[in-house]
Amino acid sequence: MRVISSVAIGLLAFSSVVVSAPAKKSHDVVHAPGGSSLYGITYNALDANGLCKSQSTITKDVKKYKSNGIINIRTYSQQCNQLDLILKAIKSAGGGMTVLTAVWIDGNNSNYLSEVKTLTHTLSSNKLSSSYISGVLVGNEVLFNKVISSSQLAAKIKDVKSKVKSHSLLVGTCEIPPSFTSAVISASDFLVANIHPYFGQVPASQAAQNLVLQYNNLKKNAKGKPLIVGETGWPTAGATNGQSVPSTHNLQTYVSDIQCIDKSIKYYFFDSVDTPWKAPGVEQHWGLWKSNGASKGIKFKPTCPKK
Ligand SMILES: *[C@@H]1O[C@H](CO)[C@@H](O)[C@H](O)[C@H]1NC(C)=O
Repeated sequence: MRVISSVAIGLLAFSSVVVSAPAKKSHDVVHAPGGSSLYGITYNALDANGLCKSQSTITKDVKKYKSNGIINIRTYSQQCNQLDLILKAIKSAGGGMTVLTAVWIDGNNSNYLSEVKTLTHTLSSNKLSSSYISGVLVGNEVLFNKVISSSQLAAKIKDVKSKVKSHSLLVGTCEIPPSFTSAVISASDFLVANIHPYFGQVPASQAAQNLVLQYNNLKKNAKGKPLIVGETGWPTAGATNGQSVPSTHNLQTYVSDIQCIDKSIKYYFFDSVDTPWKAPGVEQHWGLWKSNGASKGIKFKPTCPKK
């Protein structure tokens, strides 16, 4: 469902210096701990006008998440050289955070190669890479959206694995649960699934239970690979979908319930801010904050009811 229009912004010609990285310990995303609030948050480097955010804006965003207890960030692409900027922002925020980085796939192979080149350049040039990156996602919902085939995706996952090999990073992809194929599961170090109770037409009061149900169903078919939720969230405006009603109250319900229901499930809450640069409709209204960063009044640290 998430659309990024043009990933190839601002890619510079990199010199072909080969940096031999020392063997590093694997940063296992599966074991990245959560903070004192939502496990993680999805992040995009574009501002409300669809322009690349500056280093200072990204640093401000990252500090805000940390101060709200959210310490794990998931991204979608290398657009705007965002990995480098986010790593520097995490350092400015005092560390203790992770970024799940990504290669965007739009079906255009030269764009794919640019994304991989930006990623590998950042990995070899930014020393913070070995401290804060939790893994690499190759594509988002590309099988669901029929952007490329399962065998093509499996090949790209293996290609990225070979190119980031010296950095000991886990590599996988993000899909909706029914779209995972055996070939893609086998090629992946870990599985990341976008699970949206809103699209399942369930009431907000049952969203957390629905997430756990869908997660456990997919887990059975995961061939023992670690599974995390790449996106889940609730819109605050837009069309009602069955019993799923967008509202700030319902977003608050989900933000609270998801933290109280099953702490073993790791998830990236979608989305950090509203995205008016997307096509009009419910897609624009998933932010935990407004598009300008202003509060929607969400409280991040609930008091969970005693069982
Ligand atoms: C792929 O993307 C580039 C720009 O990044 C564009 O110049 C080229 O025409 C695209 N190729 C195809 C086949 O669409």
